[in-house]
Amino acid sequence: MCGIIGYVGEQNATPILIDGLARLEYRGYDSAGIAVLDSQGAIVVHKRAGKLRNLSNAISSSQPHGVQGIGHTRWATHGEPNDINAHPHVDCTGDLALIHNGIIENYQELRKELMAEGHVFTSQTDTEILAHAIERELAQGAENLETAVRNILPKLRGAYAMVVMSRKEPGKLIGARNNAPLIIGAGNGESYFASDMTALLKHTRSMLTLNDGEYAVITAADIRIHTIDGKQVQRTPIHVEWDAQSAEKDGYPHYLLKEIMEQPAAAQRALLSRIKPLDDRLVPQIDEIDALAQSGKLKNISRIIMLACGTSYYASLIGRAMLERWARIPVEPWVASEFRYADPVVGPDTLVIAITQSGETADTIASVRLAKESGAVVVGLTNMVGSALTREVDVTLYLNAGPEISVPATKTFVTSVMTLTVLALKLAELRDTLDAFAITSLLRQVETIPAKMEKLLEIVGVENNTIQQTAKWLAPCQSAMFIGRGSGYAVAREGALKLKEVSYIHAEGYQAGELKHGPITLLDEFTPLLAVATHSIVYEKVISNIQEVRARRAKVIAVATEGDELIHKHAESVFYVPEIDELLVPALAAIPFQLLAYYTAVERGCDIDQPRNLAKSVTVE
Ligand code: AGP
Repeated sequence: MCGIIGYVGEQNATPILIDGLARLEYRGYDSAGIAVLDSQGAIVVHKRAGKLRNLSNAISSSQPHGVQGIGHTRWATHGEPNDINAHPHVDCTGDLALIHNGIIENYQELRKELMAEGHVFTSQTDTEILAHAIERELAQGAENLETAVRNILPKLRGAYAMVVMSRKEPGKLIGARNNAPLIIGAGNGESYFASDMTALLKHTRSMLTLNDGEYAVITAADIRIHTIDGKQVQRTPIHVEWDAQSAEKDGYPHYLLKEIMEQPAAAQRALLSRIKPLDDRLVPQIDEIDALAQSGKLKNISRIIMLACGTSYYASLIGRAMLERWARIPVEPWVASEFRYADPVVGPDTLVIAITQSGETADTIASVRLAKESGAVVVGLTNMVGSALTREVDVTLYLNAGPEISVPATKTFVTSVMTLTVLALKLAELRDTLDAFAITSLLRQVETIPAKMEKLLEIVGVENNTIQQTAKWLAPCQSAMFIGRGSGYAVAREGALKLKEVSYIHAEGYQAGELKHGPITLLDEFTPLLAVATHSIVYEKVISNIQEVRARRAKVIAVATEGDELIHKHAESVFYVPEIDELLVPALAAIPFQLLAYYTAVERGCDIDQPRNLAKSVTVE
């Protein structure tokens, strides 16, 4: 959470910082601020509560000019979101300015110490202690900013990605990280820090990762990385394939709509080179899993634990059904924030599959560490090259969804599901639980998913009145109930999450069979039921559950299989998805709910790409 950016080079820093913050705003939007070292050698700080536009408006007539600066967009943790608590924070002298993402857990004791020594604090944030702690090191004789930063790092508990600059050492920024993302951009005669690569794509595609426990000193011409104890680290830049255009809205009114429409291409990329023809068969091809198998690490695996949060967790529920059905292995999906405190039973017999699109979710990363310490083998799924997850796991499977800017996840959901699909078939092949014919027949269907999504989006997509009409009558509702069975239940949970996070309508996702055990009391003519009623072995059961609620006068929106005309008898509104194996339906069935959430939010005038109180990357626990 929080977005941070730093620039040092020859250009005017302010527009670069503001543009970078605009691209990072999805990480937090409680306040925004910049600090620029101006040509007179003074650090000029501007910060405003609220969205970035408040800051942009405030500086529109007098932008600070200078060739280095730092910027921050905040998701508040300590201290309410106001001007004073906005970053950057400065020390008592005003010589230093600093931005931070994360939580310093021992900030109260450090603050007390520093106040006792005479440091004056202006904000309620944990971040401000960092500026004063560096100031103290310098006052006590640290030879330069780098030494001062290095000295304070071992005293901090918690998570941080920070960037600091001093007017006494112009031309230099220092960044450090521990359990919060920070990457370095290597430009031509300029260098950058940023929370993620999308902020820098416009300037460079050459990026370096910074690992936990490392800091970096960047100047216009040089990038040096060190461990906390001062040892220099050699790191080769990564060339990022994403281009700047892919992180733009491309004429769509919102990133969310653009990203929903990009799902066929994203799904295709997730499958690309993971399905291989072999003679007259198709085989799942995941080299990383083959390497694990050859190393013997999969030999003793008798169970799978899946770790994830939010939408990624719902993808794991879909993964479970495929893994259990096809690879015949017991699977336990865990919400990562529960797993890590549950004293879980995990050991060398456990394969962990961790999913996090950002690769930075604090609870998922901590759970992965715990599982690794207990001897588990860990496969990570993420969309972010070089993210924290990739450094913790045995192998990483990239989602290849392309940049996902909107806070509500869509294409990373379907690419997680696609990747899990091939992974489940790969494990079925290795465990010999499905024959070549069955695998080929499933993979032939998997290959059709991107085209089926394309068709589905054409039918229910942008220009479709039915979905917009349905959104119009959903918009005034205060509450909605989503139901499904089997994988349809996971789609219901994800549909409910999308609706609540984008349109702020209360929504719950329930197993259809559970309605009559309590939640059916909530249903009436003002609380609609959204049902996943696609063809499956439990289709008729779902229809019975729908009838139960219609008897209570609730209106029904159904996602059904193409050709199912009877469903109209049971629902006011129907969205069809193409026929496919029932375990492969979820990636398709989720799409009408995504669009419905989107258009309902449009009707309600919500802030679609940046829903209130949320952030794209949840780096706090
Ligand atoms: C998705 O729409 C949500 N914004 C959120 O639930 C998200 O899926 C969750 O925070 C997990 O993120 P991750 O995949 O980056 O770990």
